[in-house]
Amino acid sequence: MGKVFEVKNLSFQYPKSKDLVIKNISFDVEEGKIVGLLGPSGAGKSTTQKILTKLLSDYQGEILYFGKDLKTYKKDFYEEIGVGFEMPVHFNKLTALENMKYFAQLYKKNINYMELFEKVNLSDAINQSVGEFSKGMKVRLNFIRALLNDPKVLFLDEPTNGLDPTNARIIKDLILEFKKQNKTVFITTHLMGDVEQLCDEVIFITKGEIVEASTPRELKLKYGKKEVKIEYKENGSDLTEKNFALEKLGENKEFLELIKNKNIETIHSGETSLENIFIKVTGEEVL
Ligand SMILES: Nc1ncnc2c1ncn2[C@@H]1O[C@H](COP(=O)(O)OP(=O)(O)OP(=O)(O)O)[C@@H](O)[C@H]1O
Ligand SMILES: [Mg+2]
Repeated sequence: MGKVFEVKNLSFQYPKSKDLVIKNISFDVEEGKIVGLLGPSGAGKSTTQKILTKLLSDYQGEILYFGKDLKTYKKDFYEEIGVGFEMPVHFNKLTALENMKYFAQLYKKNINYMELFEKVNLSDAINQSVGEFSKGMKVRLNFIRALLNDPKVLFLDEPTNGLDPTNARIIKDLILEFKKQNKTVFITTHLMGDVEQLCDEVIFITKGEIVEASTPRELKLKYGKKEVKIEYKENGSDLTEKNFALEKLGENKEFLELIKNKNIETIHSGETSLENIFIKVTGEEVL
């Protein structure tokens, strides 16, 4: 599998900022994967995304895109990537359809966006001006816009922010559909549920530095407890809870007795949630 991005010792400072906002970070993005860049507000997620999409160019370090220095790519780069911005700007006086027609003609290749309007439940609103759209409608429109040129790499900044669970699910399914075509997604989010459902790899960033990077599964094993928690009821009594180590569980007499003879209510493995991992590695609460 090829590497879409190889980021080596990347540092960045905004002209007006006192300190580095990105501090010597290195990571790879593999083709066909969904990679999540996670971290608290102000960590540098959007800045990193802006650097990878060539919106900010004055960085230190090296970035390779499909093995070639990102700086050598010109306008054609934008034919290959799709970007869902954190704060999208649309023409508010134009309708949703007029907006998409406008943005679509900026590219050589176009996806069938009428089909996408259908998929994200916006078909009935295509002739409504975007200024009258609710936040969730704008977010869905923004998602279509990111796909207009049928990109091979998709950048999404908080793609389900402001969506109800049904529409969030639709967007997540479309992201997974995109990945199935061996395409790559670089996503930033605060929502650990989204990460759980989408990401193959996660990179945690705090104050411009990478503090952890792995797969969600590996992280859960690393930060979780290797144990199982059983809740059971005895002769109509109150709920009792007991923890057992996973190691040699099949030989643990007390455990075997318990599952054989007691009225088991729940069994949970001691794996931790990504929420807890986020708090542990970034030192901050999930927003
Ligand atoms: N144009 C700018 N000029 C100066 N500083 C900036 C600029 N944009 C962002 N910053 C600063 O860079 C740091 C990282 O910002 P960035 O937007 O990348 O964070 P983020 O991780 O995306 O946060 P959020 O989760 O709130 O979107 C912050 O301290 C921010 O104040
Ligand atoms: Mg951001």
